[in-house]
Order: sequence, then structure tokens, then C-alpha cells
Amino acid sequence: MGKWTRRDLVKTGLAASAGIMTGKDLLAESRGSHMTDAAPIFAQMAASIPAANQPNTLRERLLLDYGWHFALGNASDPVKDFGYGKLNGSGLFAKAGQVNGPASPRFDASAWQKIDLPHDWAIDLPFIDNNPSLVGHGAKPLGREYPETSIGWYRREFLLPASDVGRRISVEFDGIFRNSTVFFNGYYMAENMSGYAPLSIDLTDFASFGSADVPAGARPGTLAPGMNVLVVRVDATLDEGWFYEGAGIYRHAWLTKTAPVHIARWGNYVRTEFAKATGVVTSSDPATVFVSTEVTNDGDAAVSGRIHAELLDAAGKTVATAVSQPASIASGETHTFTLQATVAKPALWSCESPNLYRAATTLEVDGKAVDRDDATFGIRTLKFDADKGFLLNGKQVKIKGTCNHQDHAGVGAAIPDQIQEYRLKLLQWFGSNACRTSHNPPTPEFLDACDRLGVMVMDETRRMSSDPEGLSELERLIKRDRNHPSVIIWSLGNEEPQQGTERGARIVKTMKALQRKLDPSRVSTAAMNGGWGGVGISNVLDVQGCNYSDGQIDDYHKQHPQHPMIGTETASTVATRGIFANDKVRGYVSAYDTEKPGWGNTAEEWWSFYDEREFLAGGFAWTGLDYRGEPTPYGWPCISSHFGILDTCGFAKDTAYYYKAWWGAEPMLHILPHWNWEGREGQEIEVWAYCNQDSVELFLDGASLGSQPVKKNGHLVWKVKYTPGTLLAQASKDGKVVLTDKRQTAGPATKILATADHMNITADGQDLAVINVAIVDAQDNLVPNANHKVTWSVAGPGSVIGVGNGDPSCHEPDRATQRSAFNGLCMAMVQGKRAQAGAIVATVSAEGLQPATVVIISQTGSLPPVVL
Ligand code: GAL
Repeated sequence: MGKWTRRDLVKTGLAASAGIMTGKDLLAESRGSHMTDAAPIFAQMAASIPAANQPNTLRERLLLDYGWHFALGNASDPVKDFGYGKLNGSGLFAKAGQVNGPASPRFDASAWQKIDLPHDWAIDLPFIDNNPSLVGHGAKPLGREYPETSIGWYRREFLLPASDVGRRISVEFDGIFRNSTVFFNGYYMAENMSGYAPLSIDLTDFASFGSADVPAGARPGTLAPGMNVLVVRVDATLDEGWFYEGAGIYRHAWLTKTAPVHIARWGNYVRTEFAKATGVVTSSDPATVFVSTEVTNDGDAAVSGRIHAELLDAAGKTVATAVSQPASIASGETHTFTLQATVAKPALWSCESPNLYRAATTLEVDGKAVDRDDATFGIRTLKFDADKGFLLNGKQVKIKGTCNHQDHAGVGAAIPDQIQEYRLKLLQWFGSNACRTSHNPPTPEFLDACDRLGVMVMDETRRMSSDPEGLSELERLIKRDRNHPSVIIWSLGNEEPQQGTERGARIVKTMKALQRKLDPSRVSTAAMNGGWGGVGISNVLDVQGCNYSDGQIDDYHKQHPQHPMIGTETASTVATRGIFANDKVRGYVSAYDTEKPGWGNTAEEWWSFYDEREFLAGGFAWTGLDYRGEPTPYGWPCISSHFGILDTCGFAKDTAYYYKAWWGAEPMLHILPHWNWEGREGQEIEVWAYCNQDSVELFLDGASLGSQPVKKNGHLVWKVKYTPGTLLAQASKDGKVVLTDKRQTAGPATKILATADHMNITADGQDLAVINVAIVDAQDNLVPNANHKVTWSVAGPGSVIGVGNGDPSCHEPDRATQRSAFNGLCMAMVQGKRAQAGAIVATVSAEGLQPATVVIISQTGSLPPVVL
């Protein structure tokens, strides 16, 4: 393989277009080169290679999210599981293509519920109040005790036209929770145990192709020629984590059509290097871009192929090109092409300037462009250092991160892409520059958003195991995510019992070897809450990951001065938004930064500690947003955690402003609590200020309560005798008042204020606007204990897909058009309808309050292609 003879060239027709290549030409190709060097070769080939700044017409990638049928099955009774697996003379798998029940193509699922993906059926299940073991998982009836709500069936029919004959057809699921079995046209296809690792299956051999092309707009109806049935049985009986995980096909699904010789799924790997070993780089340093592309020949005969890579900047301008050595690929074989090119003046990726590039790799077979796959990448250097912590492009950057689970208010695990970005932007606004995807691979769209926004990511696999499944999950994670510039480190596990043992070290050694093989450009860590040093996994990890255990950090650093260290998990501060005293009965925790479990820290404790130590790369606070399950320190009636800096809707708790003061770059002043303490007149209330200026002076109704100097990474406290009125804080810098913040005793609630996070959405059936609602008095002061039942009524091409209020003890349904406000706030997500443009008018009302109206414009434009 890899030999390109004159005969090959003549046979493929390349000789005519390219001229006979000399050894020098081939050398130039194999080196890859900057545009100026490569121009002669590239120009000769260009006729057959479609321009990379045009849409990719060489493969189809169709969204398979729409038009599914769904029904709950049963985990213990085959009759209630639509007869699946019911003995009928022979076993399910006795003969290929003979599966029964809903997996059979003849099954009639027309009575099932019609749904679109992403879909989390757990969100629609009731909260269960009598099973303490469920509370950690969000109190939904999933598990062996709940066979009737733990199995989900999904069916989707679709047509494949005659023109697809000869192409490779594959389906991809970005994530199914969990233990999914996939059937196609009555054939067993695959099983995916993981609830988080993606699954890609080649369906071609089992496909049925139509006799004519599918007319535009045709919908499948019967099992006509060309009709295909894809069925997924999802078994969410067992959990993988100790938190809410959802249930069902909760991420996107795709149908991909390629030529028989094609670039393999996740087969494109782009990494960059600089000549300078120091890693201190600027845009004047030329970067070498290495592209390796796996090509699979699923055709019947050997072919000669090669790869053209075109590197484009964010404006779509070609900045470098390279052509691989040609190679012949036998039928059934996969060949990896490698190329490299130089970007002379790279626009570096950083948190402040997240510059992106695209590598369009086009596969040329026998002189013809047959496939193309594009990878987004960034150019930057990463270094974890035992003395300096972490360096991005050679500059010290302290990681100001948060750990996050993937669920959100209203939608559970089935997070719309837009919400990923919404969450990240909120966290960024509060000064965070990094996320840890605890404790599982995220959605691809989450990483896309991190790439675009400049958020660094610790990307974590679910299971710390070198068993075949564990390695396969790790492999899929790394191959899928390794091009993302936002990913700065891999995490191989979290608080695993074998972390301090030799066995653990063997397991992690195997995992790390795989990580290095698949991605030599990054290092790995694991989140350890014990067993540091000694014989355990610390010895194998590139970076010591510290979960809590601040008392051991200095000692470990002294004893292992060469080992870089990072706070993989910190804080676990607990707080309920808008609540300022613990309340066991209702399940609320005070939002002063004082509450934490035995292993945790307040925000101020952990951040002061990490900020003082240069050798620590920074850390990831547990957590950025509240999530379902783990309602520490309580159980029922709490069903959501209190750990978030923001609540489950993304509304800020006061501690968020502590982070904004000490993580953010802008001047900041924030005071707490609210100033509605009816019944506590004359009693002392603690008033806190978070501020990053020189000093803060507090006034009550114009009378000064004293000025206090600001201490770095700290907060200020006044004890104030309560009388209704106005608390005003003034922050000064260099003797001048630069900021004020105010809390005024609110009067009775009179109206609703409603705002949309954006007023224009794409009518792709996925995009949405978040409508946040505040209940205010006549002067627009938030009424801090308002709990009115708020209703959203929507006219036009949109609908409410979920609601929330951030109350960790609220048992109202998520998928509704009504929600009680919690401490004055609640929200709804309004999603547009696919291909239906127009004005979506959302009227927000509550009894006794003046309503509010929000108008969102939904526009069509160019929508991503979908499976009909
Ligand atoms: C950690 C664990 C997290 C979460 C957290 C709560 O030990 O890694 O998943 O459970 O505790 O404080």
C-alpha cells in the first residue's frame, strides 16, 4: 500500500491531468506545504476537487431527529413489551432478520406517540416520593422496580431512493440513555451499552432501495420498495451515574450517505505543532498542521486514492493546502493518509480570541473526488506545568472552571443545542473560562459551542475501565472530540474506588496508552478524592487531579514537585437561590456562601486557596448549574441539587457574583440579601457585598453604615438592623465612586417582566428562545418571595417545550405551559417549528398581575437537510 506507480496514474487518469509526477513532486506532496509551495501541485489537481468554501456535496449528512414514534415497553413482561422476546418457537436471534415485536418491520406503531429527538422520556414521568434511593437520580421511576417505565421503544420509517444504490448508508446516534439495541428492517444491528458514547452503524447491507427517486416532500407510508424501518429499544433500567441521567434517544441522530470508498467516521484527525519547543507562541510563529485521514474501501475492488486537505480560516479563505501520498486501498481495507501543511501566520485559539479553522479533506479516488469530510480545529499550544499550573499559547492561564451535568430545567437530558450555548454564555458572564464534562462525554454541540466561545474543556469518559467496553467508550470519545481546540485535557475517571491501588494503576496505564495513541497532542488526568501518590493511579496520570482534599495539596506538591496539579473538582458549596436561612422541611439552603457538605468548601475558601498557589492550574467548582438529583444536604422533597452557582434554569445565586468579582475582568459590585424582611423589623440582618474595587460603603435610606476596604478574593459584611427601605452600596476605586448596587424593599407584586434571550430564531424546529420572567412591584423591583402561577400562551409557529423555576423542591411538571415562580423568577423555552417562518407571540400572565408579551421572529433561510 502507499505505492503509486505510473500504471496507477495512467489507469486513474491522473497522469493526464497531473502530468507524470517526478520523485520531487511526490516528496513535496508528502511533506505537505504552505499554499505558495504547494500551488503548482494543488492547481493541477484542483479541477477534480470541489472548492472547500462551497457546501460539501460529496456526502449527505441528514438530521434524523424528526418523525419518530415512541412508546414505553416493559422490562419484565414480554406481553407488555409488545411481544418482544416472547418465545414463539425459536429464539429472537435464531435466524437473521427475524426479530419480532416492534423490531419487526411489519409492526404497526401508528398508535404510538409522535415525537422528535432529542427526547428524554424520564422528564415526563412523575416524581416518586416514597423511594429514597431514587432521590439521588432525580426521583423518577427508572430501575428494576419500575419495569413499566424503564423501557422505551423508538421507530422511524424512511425511504431510500434508487439513486442511493451503491452508496454507504449509516446511522449515527450521538447519545442514547442507555443500553440500546438497534434493529433495521427486522435485523439486529448493534447494541450500545453506554448512555453517553456515540454509536455509528453501517446499514447498507440491510437497506431497501426504492425503484425511483423519492419525490421531494414524500413521506413514508407503507413498506413500499425503498421503505426502511429503524427501531431502537432503549433499556434505562440500570444507571451509570449517581445523578439524573434521563432516558431515551436524548441526543441527535443522523443518516449519512457516502461513496463506497469513504472517509471513516471520526477518521479525520487534525493536530497542530510549532517548531518552538517552549510552547510560547504568537501569530508570527508558523504552525504545522498534521492531518491524518482514515479511508475505508467498502467497494468491491482495490482503488487508488489520496487526500487533499484545504485549510480555511474563519472567513472561509484558504490558508494552506496539502496533498497526501497516493495509496492503493484493497477492498475491505482501511488506509490512513497523512499530510501536513503550514499556516504561516496562524490566528491562535484562546479564551479571548477563539479563532477557528476548518480542514476540508477531500478523498480522490481514481482521479475523481468522491468524499469530503470537514473538521473544525484551532491552533494553540497547551501545557500543564508543575510550577506554573497551566499555559495556553505559553501564557499562564488560571482555570476558572465549573463541573456540570448535562440536564437543564424543562427538558432534562434532551438539551436543545441552543441551551448548551445559553448555559456556557451565562457561566462565561460570571467569569468562568472552563468546563469539566462531569462525569461523561458531552454532546458534540456542547464542544462546538466551547470552541466558538473560547471555553476550555476537561473532557471526561464515563467509566474508568480498561475492559473492552471501557476502552471502546474512551476510543469513541477521543476520536470524536480530538479536533476540538477547546478540549485541553482528557479525564479518565472520577473518584474510582481503585484509584489508590496497583490494579487501578494498571487499568489507567492501559487507558492512557490508548489516549496517547489516538491523540498524542494532549495529556490526561483523573479526578481523585483519595489514594494520591503511593502505588495508585497518580503514578500514571500526567496531571494530578484533586477532588476537594485541599489539606493534602501542599504536601503532595512538596513530595511530587514535578507533577502538575489541577483541581478537578472543588467547592460543592450549597445554596438555594433567594433563600437566606436553611429550611429542612422545604429543603432549602441559605444562599450566603457558608453552606457546604463535610468534603466541600465555600466558594471563597476554595478559590482563595487555588488563587494563592501558582503551581495549581486552577479548578472546576462543583457545579456551574444545579442539576436533577443529589439534593445534598437533604432528601425528598428536594429533587434537584443545590450545588450550582446558577440554578437549574440558569438564574444566578448570589455566589455567582463572588465568582464574577474574582474571576471576571470587569469592575463588580453586588450586595445580598434582598430587603424584604417583614416581621424582622429591628433585627440584625447580615448584608454582604462582593466587590473587586478598593472599598464599599453601605447606606440604609441615605444613612451611612460604614465603608470597608475590599480584601482580594473575600467579601464584606455589615450587620444591619432591618427597617424597610433602600440599601445602597457604593464601590470606590482611587477615591472615586465607580459602581452602585441597591436593594429596595419591594411593594406588592403588580406585573410581569418578561425577556427573551434572543428575539430572532431559526425555524429549524430546534432553535428556541428562553423567556425569563420576573415578578415585580410597581417600581420594577423584584418581589423576592413571589410565587405566582405563571402561564405562557403562544401564538404563531412555536410552542413551549419546557418550563422551570429553579426550586429544588418543586414537583410541577417540566413539560407544561405553566409554572409557579420561585422567589420571583421562572422561565419557559419557546421553540420554533421547522420550516414555518413567522412571528411567535408569547403572552405571559398570572392572576392579579399585569401580563407581558414577547415577540420572537422565526426565520427559515437555509435549513440543515433532514431525513424525510
Ligand atoms: C463528588 C462527586 C460528584 C458529586 C459531588 C457532590 O464527590 O464527584 O459527582 O457527587 O461529590 O458533592
